[in-house]
Amino acid sequence: MEVVIVPDAMAGGELIAEALAALLRRKPDALLGVATGSTPLPIYQALAAKVQAGSVDASRARICQLDEYVGLPAGHPESYRSVVLREVVEPLGLGADSFMGPDGAAEDVQGACEAYDRALREAGGVDLQLLGIGTDGHIGFNEPCSSLASRTRIKTLTQQTRKDNARFFDSLDEVPHHVITQGIGTILEARHLVLLATGAGKADAVARAVEGPVAALVPASALQLHPHATVVVDEAAAAKLK
Ligand code: F6R
Repeated sequence: MEVVIVPDAMAGGELIAEALAALLRRKPDALLGVATGSTPLPIYQALAAKVQAGSVDASRARICQLDEYVGLPAGHPESYRSVVLREVVEPLGLGADSFMGPDGAAEDVQGACEAYDRALREAGGVDLQLLGIGTDGHIGFNEPCSSLASRTRIKTLTQQTRKDNARFFDSLDEVPHHVITQGIGTILEARHLVLLATGAGKADAVARAVEGPVAALVPASALQLHPHATVVVDEAAAAKLK
């Protein structure tokens, strides 16, 4: 695992956007796995700026989601499908047919999870998966104690994660209790994992993921098992690294 410490979130976004641009120059139809939440926004803004400036052509890029809320009505502005369309797909000038995600509104949720794992495989696998980290060490929505071999499946959000995400909704009550998330085993199949963590609130989780033992209690520690994992942290999030 490579750990890169950058001064701030903007620098982290720029660094990772350049890695994405380099990948797209090498492989124009790369499958990019995107995370949602606040942390990756500087990456998406920096990548869109590169596309607009003409320094990279993203017109053949393919995008896939890491996770999705279960039970939000279609088109809800905070469904991750809506967020990825708004923050990634549209700014890159891509069409809705260039991205895929798990179907959080499916009646057969288990079937939708299996279908998503299959779709990722049939698409040739994820070339670069972007990740954030939860304050409890989750990646995707694999909360503590998720199996390190888990596949895409439905999970119950912890109260802490629901509270962390309440800022995107009008009230805590509106935050769904369930999500579909790529499993840790699914995530580990991506060719390159890039985790960005910024801010002092992530310092404990980063230290446990990077320097602690590999353990289901800290799902992000699974990155230590991956042959090509990069962890980009700003100085505040790096504060508890030895
Ligand atoms: C969301 C996701 C989550 C977030 C994590 C951190 O798709 O995968 O693991 O990355 O909850 O969220 P922020 O970046 O909002 O602190």
